Amino acid sequence: MLKHYLSIACIAAVLAVLAVTVGAVPVEEVDPTDLHAAEVDAVVDYTEMTPEEMAEFLIFNGGLKLDDEVQEGGIARERLVQDELQIICTQARNQPSPEQREKIIAEAQASIQYPEGDIVLGDWEKGRQMAWSGFGYRLAPSLDDHDENPLGANCYNCHEFAGDRQGGTVGPSLKGYGKLRGDSQAILRLTYGIIYNAHSLFPCTQMPRQGAKGLLSQEQILDIMAYLFDPESPVNQ
Ligand code: HEC
Repeated sequence: MLKHYLSIACIAAVLAVLAVTVGAVPVEEVDPTDLHAAEVDAVVDYTEMTPEEMAEFLIFNGGLKLDDEVQEGGIARERLVQDELQIICTQARNQPSPEQREKIIAEAQASIQYPEGDIVLGDWEKGRQMAWSGFGYRLAPSLDDHDENPLGANCYNCHEFAGDRQGGTVGPSLKGYGKLRGDSQAILRLTYGIIYNAHSLFPCTQMPRQGAKGLLSQEQILDIMAYLFDPESPVNQ
């Protein structure tokens, strides 16, 4: 019985301390960017915020260190600045007008640097590794070391590739990609263009511009393409 009272007393004490801590630190008096995410949750009353206020708060103050330096140079805050394409697509709610579509497609096509001569597929095993890795330019207290952990291509978050692993469903399934389409130079060039800058075919797509933004090299794209087209690849089994 005594044990029972003791544990109730303990819980009451913890609650009292929590009430004092939460009550004693009003939002205005702390700079939430100095806190870790868990501490931010303890001092900020999300229930008092409108959805817009909460979105604003989570993006600009929610523990992300937006003034920290990032790997590509500059600071994290600069990643929030939209380029021209992103501004058009945001304003059009991803439904560009016919004129906007034409402009986006033309600019995306012009951005693509194709390999010289015929497209020759790379190594599907390397490609598979990249397609399934999300290791990238993360916002983190310490920078990702790309010498130890090569950059991933993050495709798996949006695409299904083969029966051996479960991928995402934001984009269409790419199961049987090469088997279904063949490997003519025309289809290889088209696919290279999609991976390099998918707005060349799908204006205002959600698919990242990994070639045009310098995240994937030509060689890496050709390895990923081998994963899509090689008859030996699990994608085509
Ligand atoms: C953020 C989500 C996302 C990521 C990451 C992504 N894609 Fe996509 N992808 C899409 C969407 C969505 C489409 C469909 C095009 C559209 O209508 O926007 C697409 C279309 C495609 C297509 C054309 C499919 C077809 O049937 O014609 C290919 C090929 C493709 N993606 C390959 C890749 C590869 C390879 C990667 C990794 C380098 C990748 N994608 C990363 C979202 C993504």
